[in-house]
This record gives sequence, C-alpha cells and structure tokens, in this order.
Amino acid sequence: MTHSLFADMPLTRPELIAPDTFLIPNLAPGPDGLYLPVNSMVIRGREPVIVDTGAPVHREQWLEKAFAVVEPEDVRWIFLSHDDGDHTGALFDALERCPRATLVTNFFSVERLQLEKPALPLARMRWVEPGGSFDTGDRVLQLFRPPVFDGPTSRGLFDPKSGAMWIVDSFPCFTPGTLEADEMPQELLAQVMPALSSAISPWHAWLDGAAFTRHVDAVEALGASTVASAHGPVLRGERLDDAFDRLRALAGVPVTPTPGQELLDSLLAPTLAEAG
Ligand SMILES: [Fe+2]
Ligand SMILES: [Fe+2]
Repeated sequence: MTHSLFADMPLTRPELIAPDTFLIPNLAPGPDGLYLPVNSMVIRGREPVIVDTGAPVHREQWLEKAFAVVEPEDVRWIFLSHDDGDHTGALFDALERCPRATLVTNFFSVERLQLEKPALPLARMRWVEPGGSFDTGDRVLQLFRPPVFDGPTSRGLFDPKSGAMWIVDSFPCFTPGTLEADEMPQELLAQVMPALSSAISPWHAWLDGAAFTRHVDAVEALGASTVASAHGPVLRGERLDDAFDRLRALAGVPVTPTPGQELLDSLLAPTLAEAG
C-alpha cells in the first residue's frame, strides 16, 4: 500500500529559493489528499554545501535531484542537521560520491548514528555546535538551535550572504503540492503548522513563555529573508513573520491531540469492506 501511495506523488524539481540556494523537494502521502514535504537543500557557492540528505524512501530521487544541481566532485561540505532517518537517507551515498566533502555534524549525532548505520568516517568530519560556524570560501555558515525540534542533536543553518536559513523540522505543514507558503491557503498554514509543531515537540506545553520567546526571538534576529525547512513550505515576508508568531504562541499551551484509533479504523474500513 505504501509503495503505491509514494508512486502517486506529484513530481517535484529542485527550486532556486535564494541566491545560490536550491530546495531539493520530495513529497510523502499526508491526510485528506495533502502531502508532507521531505526537503533538503544545496548551497552552490565557491565550496558547495549539501544540507541534509532526504529520507530513505526518496533516496533515488534525492540523488538525481541533488546532483542535477551540483556535481558530486565539486561538493565540499555535507551539513547534517541531525541524525533522524528522514535526514540521513542518502548520507552514505553522498559521502561516497562526494570524496572531497567534509561532514559537518556533532558528537551526539555520531554517537546515535553508530547504533543504526555503518561506521562514519571520523577523519572526514567537523563537529560544530550551535553558535559555531564554518567557512565555505565565499560565506560563513552559522549554526543555531532550531526553535522546535524532534531530535536533541538538531542544528539549523543560516547563510548571511544569501539570507537563506535551514530551520530543520521547525515550521512543518502539509501542502496541496506547492512548496511556497505564499501559494498555500492561509488557513491551512494557520491550522496545520501549530498542530504539526505540537506533534514534533510536545514539550512546548511545559515551556515558560518568556524564556521560549527569547529563544524564538534570537533565531528570528539572525535576520533570514528566506526560510526553508524539511517538512514545510518556503517562508518569506509576512508568512515568515506569522510562522514565528505561531511558534511563540505554543509556549505553555496544551498539546494538540494527534489522530487515534478512529483514523486507523477509517483507513482500514475500505479494505475490511472488500475482504468482508
Ligand atoms: Fe527530525
Ligand atoms: Fe525531519
């Protein structure tokens, strides 16, 4: 069943979203005919950077799309935002096909990945913490802790030269197909983004409003003009302002319930009816 649903996904292509910065999109099935974005990014500067490597289900499409934007032998950096499976899908392919690339990650990602993947090449790594940066020749990329996240190792990336930010699992939202927030129904963003943010970071219910606002403000103050994420549309201008406001509003409010047995029953009903 899963295979055929994935086979029906609309075709997506790499999109230039900021100077030198390409979104590498893929889609997964979502509810109500909507799709879940599963994006990554490529920065094509003097020393090209791959930003995350997609999900295992999209491995082949990811390789095709990423290397349509940059030649593997030119890639000098692979930035891994965190060790979750949907960000490491083509990690080993990328390391193999990009022999000049250094993997930017951190101690705890490596510690966690060693439990589920073959050994990573320590000699090809650089470990950078939030607040740190790395120089890619024509720009210095800055790491920060994303506003909300579903993995403790998560680090976002900001490029002051292009104004583009990779905010990892923050700002998730199902989409009717477009990857531009301006083209999406605004009520969809208003309803789904907070609900999915709650799903990935249910600890928002325990947050102190003032402390969390300081954290969100600090990310916003980096001054990004284009914000891309793994599971949501590209945000700019007013849509971006709204998204930061919705995040701040999550502090201390109850968790949004996720669908339960009723949804499973409704998904299974056609199959059971056929069998019966
Ligand atoms: Fe994640
Ligand atoms: Fe993710």
